[in-house]
Amino acid sequence: MERATFDALRSVEGAGLLAEASAAYGREDEFALGTRLRRAHAPDLVAAALTQARLRARAVDKFAPADAARMFFTVDGYEQATRVRVARHRAERLAAALGRGATVADLCCGIGGDLVELARAGLTVTGVEADELTAAVAAANAAALGVPAQVRHADATTTDRTGYAAVVCDPARRGGRGRVFDPDAYRPPWSFVLELLAATACVKVAPGLPHERIPGGVEAEWVSERGEVKEAALWSGDLACDGVRRRATLLPSGATLTDRDDPGPVVRPLGAYLYEPDGAVIRAGLVTAAAARVGGGLLDPSIAYVTADAAVGTPFARGYRVLDTLPYDVKALRRYVRDHGIGVLTVKKRGVGVEPEKLRAAVRPRGERTATFVVTRVAGAATVLVADPL
Ligand SMILES: C[S@@+](CC[C@H](N)C(=O)[O-])C[C@H]1O[C@@H](n2cnc3c(N)ncnc32)[C@H](O)[C@@H]1O
Repeated sequence: MERATFDALRSVEGAGLLAEASAAYGREDEFALGTRLRRAHAPDLVAAALTQARLRARAVDKFAPADAARMFFTVDGYEQATRVRVARHRAERLAAALGRGATVADLCCGIGGDLVELARAGLTVTGVEADELTAAVAAANAAALGVPAQVRHADATTTDRTGYAAVVCDPARRGGRGRVFDPDAYRPPWSFVLELLAATACVKVAPGLPHERIPGGVEAEWVSERGEVKEAALWSGDLACDGVRRRATLLPSGATLTDRDDPGPVVRPLGAYLYEPDGAVIRAGLVTAAAARVGGGLLDPSIAYVTADAAVGTPFARGYRVLDTLPYDVKALRRYVRDHGIGVLTVKKRGVGVEPEKLRAAVRPRGERTATFVVTRVAGAATVLVADPL
């Protein structure tokens, strides 16, 4: 979308067209809708309105429906935007550390996913965005949602950072060929991230960031939402918690676990219960901290499964009762599946070269009952644990 088309979409005519397109989108055939709207409006404006309507419909996945219905998006901006729950968690942590009203610069604000939540958390926020259209979209979103945020179209790397209590930065992690995993290929690059982390900053990074990249004195926080790892953020200066290097935070509950809770590795024999840690706990290298919460230990020093003798409710891991322990032998497993009338079989695996789909097909589940097979190494041997979720 051209900047001029976006501006036209925010004129009286454009706003009316967008409202009509959004209301009809999903209810009316898109081709017929486009044809109808083009009778009264220019084709490029109709195309832009339909794209916005499509993105608004999609955006309920990341944003509150009432916000999504009022926001503006670019395709890239939507894909890179932080999900609302994660953005709110980060903004509230910043506001708690800095105090309401503190000034914060959001140095790569995109379409404003984080920016809006920073403002809503009571921070005085200025967004900086290098792409002109994206900056205009961020400003339009702040206005549409009624939040007091400034947006500047500028390069973050040359923006004067003096006067801000903290900076937030969410570098672009997409290149021409999709997602970028190498931190040196972030935009702005890793060297700039390190510069920010030498002061008071919060930088969003990919969850796969190698732990050795985390600078000394910086806290890394991995965040999952409903069990799915969404991102990691690096906290420095006044924002880092004393002595914490690694943290896992689970949303929506906000339950949090750190390396200060970690007693170190305990490996023990299989007990009556198995626990599968949350992805954020695994990424943060805190499986043994989660094990301590259930009074358990690792089944194997290099595999992220925990075993314990008791059923303990914990947000940090999913628990299972171990019903049976079987050697990994496909014929014997097929017999087990047949004898127990298993028809719906979930296969999970860790630390063994087994393909769950192939194993499921090979054991031919045909019965009425449901079961979970966890394939892993127990005492060095590939083993199947028949597990019943708690
Ligand atoms: C991952 S997105 C930010 C998403 C944002 N946090 C949100 O929730 O909507 C990164 C943004 O950084 C912008 N960017 C990249 N390099 C920049 C630079 N040097 N200065 C300012 N913005 C930059 C990109 O244009 C992109 O919009």
